[in-house]
Amino acid sequence: MIEFRAVTKKYGTGAFGLDEATFSVDRGDFVFMIGSTGSGKSTVMRLLIKELEPTEGTILVAGRDISSIKRRQVPFYRRNIGVVFQDFKLLPNRTVYDNVAYALQVTGHSRKEIRAKVPDILRLTGLSTKLHNYPDQLSGGEQQRVSIARAFVNHPPLLLADEPTGNLDPETSIDIMRLLYRINRTGTTVLVATHDHAMVDKMRRRVLELSRGRVVRDEATGLYTRDESTREFAQRLRSPAEAPQIL
Ligand SMILES: Nc1ncnc2c1ncn2[C@@H]1O[C@H](COP(=O)(O)OP(=O)(O)OP(=O)(O)O)[C@@H](O)[C@H]1O
Ligand SMILES: [Mg+2]
Repeated sequence: MIEFRAVTKKYGTGAFGLDEATFSVDRGDFVFMIGSTGSGKSTVMRLLIKELEPTEGTILVAGRDISSIKRRQVPFYRRNIGVVFQDFKLLPNRTVYDNVAYALQVTGHSRKEIRAKVPDILRLTGLSTKLHNYPDQLSGGEQQRVSIARAFVNHPPLLLADEPTGNLDPETSIDIMRLLYRINRTGTTVLVATHDHAMVDKMRRRVLELSRGRVVRDEATGLYTRDESTREFAQRLRSPAEAPQIL
């Protein structure tokens, strides 16, 4: 689904966002990207949505070299990628329903399609009782659910989440990870950048670690089954026996 071949991103300031980073992500994978601040995680995300262009190297998405996508085609390309940010980025003066409906409107869906799709995605994300609320009438976890609903309402094959639990407490973070996992189980490839090492250790998914723009670790942590149910998954995340020792 994603392939980075020796990708370098040098910013105008001379800073290296990425430095010959090479990695790939298979279709249907759930992958964590970790690394200290400034290691290049957000740069990877921004390159994938073509908000940035690489200085050197090649990026393939679904087998296509994305440098060949022309500027006017970029909005169509982006329909294939759902994006979730740490700070939610919701429209403050629109309701939950309208925040999600808007994502469909701008991608050219008819009113009929919108009326059919929005309730479904709000059910999946556990927001059915909140559809008339405005963002400031929701908890942080609920706001993040809305942003995930919005990112996933088109059922994109790829979902990117840049520190989706950065502003949330541990219990709420588990709910959000569970929701991302549920989305992954529908077949969507999910790439999550995070600082939450405890969560990463417990989830036991594949981990890519960046350091100064380079991939320094790429492995599946521990054993896990691909067909684990979301309930089993959440239980494992909460289980004290699985929690790392905090001294
Ligand atoms: N717009 C920019 N202009 C100049 N340098 C930038 C820009 N964005 C990022 N950088 C630099 O690129 C490097 C990688 O930054 P990036 O934002 O990708 O890191 P990150 O891993 O997402 O960090 P964090 O965990 O703090 O979000 C850093 O050295 C950063 O200072
Ligand atoms: Mg970042």
